[in-house]
Amino acid sequence: MQKLQFPENFLWGVATSSYQIEGGNFNSDWWEWEKAGKTEGKTGKACDYWNRYKEYHDLLEELGVKFFRLSVEWSRIEPEEGKFSKEAIEHYREILQDIKKRNVKIQLTLWHWTSPVWFQKKYGFYKKGSAKVFTRYVEKIVKEFGNLIDMYITFNEPMVPLGMGYLTGAFPPGCRNPFKFYAALGNMAKAHNESYRIIHDVKPDTKVGITFLYNWYESKGLGILLDAINKITQWYRIDFFGNKIKNFQDYIGIDYYRLGKIRFSLRNLKLDARNQNYFGFTIDEDKNNVMRWISYPEGFYYVLKEAWEKYKLPIYVAENGMPTRKGLEDEERVKFMKEHLAFLHKAIEDGVDVRGYNYWSLMDNFEWLYGVGPRFGLVEMDFENIKHEKRKSFYEYAKICRSNEVESE
Ligand code: BGC
Repeated sequence: MQKLQFPENFLWGVATSSYQIEGGNFNSDWWEWEKAGKTEGKTGKACDYWNRYKEYHDLLEELGVKFFRLSVEWSRIEPEEGKFSKEAIEHYREILQDIKKRNVKIQLTLWHWTSPVWFQKKYGFYKKGSAKVFTRYVEKIVKEFGNLIDMYITFNEPMVPLGMGYLTGAFPPGCRNPFKFYAALGNMAKAHNESYRIIHDVKPDTKVGITFLYNWYESKGLGILLDAINKITQWYRIDFFGNKIKNFQDYIGIDYYRLGKIRFSLRNLKLDARNQNYFGFTIDEDKNNVMRWISYPEGFYYVLKEAWEKYKLPIYVAENGMPTRKGLEDEERVKFMKEHLAFLHKAIEDGVDVRGYNYWSLMDNFEWLYGVGPRFGLVEMDFENIKHEKRKSFYEYAKICRSNEVESE
């Protein structure tokens, strides 16, 4: 057993997103999606973070984290086009102030996959003018909350909602149209670049970036063909969007979860995004995991190295976590976390400039298409009674945050 010491000022944190925890976001396109029966179960009150945020902020203090990633819900702030809700803004201000009172820095995501219903109906990111509408909202946020925010993420993992929303149709707006996809990608990149400028005009020193869903992919069988597919996958997931925002990032935000081993099978030639099947191309699965995800700590190291070599910008791990079933004795999560942190430590020792790490997530929450089945929290949620209880991983992560070191085998 050895103790791995992390750099002084390393930012230990936890991550969440508004739609997944707040509850009651009835002006959102995702609520429409849920009502249309496209998800397993509904958010309803979720963790009721909107009302009970103080209880959850107490947990931040107990953990001893220095960093909290959360998002604000555009559909609450601008419930009608061009009309901002004073009430929602004041409520968010209270939430943000309560975090700062506890000496915790804020990493704010401006768009974590959800849009107001009016936006989705009238624009959607594929339409001309959508970037302008988005940046008007960003300008409002920066003017209202700028003094409270330490770091911004404009878009969370843009390629996920773009691919799912415009190619596979599994997320709103549910299109399967490559032209709309390409237009939306361009507009989102434009919206990011313009937001970057707006934020820096108001707050020159606040860091701005996006997050990439940066899992590690490998191919299996079929030799050269799959290698080529692997390279295309990597380009699609990282560079396609990344190249369009190259000079508009102060840091690289990485979300790392798992290994994707691509293989080809004649068994299912359909497009079925929910089951990770893309016209016969599919990825290997761990049948023991609730989302069938393969944990691959080494991949975390490869990803950090690759991102550093590619961008030479400071890296913040904006999300890393594991889905499990219900249960407080989550040994597998503790193992996952320690193994991943050991590889993160190795990357730092090899010169990769990683400044912070967020565990996803503080509490169990609404896992999009999969409802509340998969559990990612350091804290377990009883969604019926809206009560929470700490898991073993909560106490273990608190030890890490407080000691700034990780015990590794
Ligand atoms: C998303 C989260 C999601 C998590 C687990 C990330 O890609 O940002 O919203 O809950 O993955 O699936």
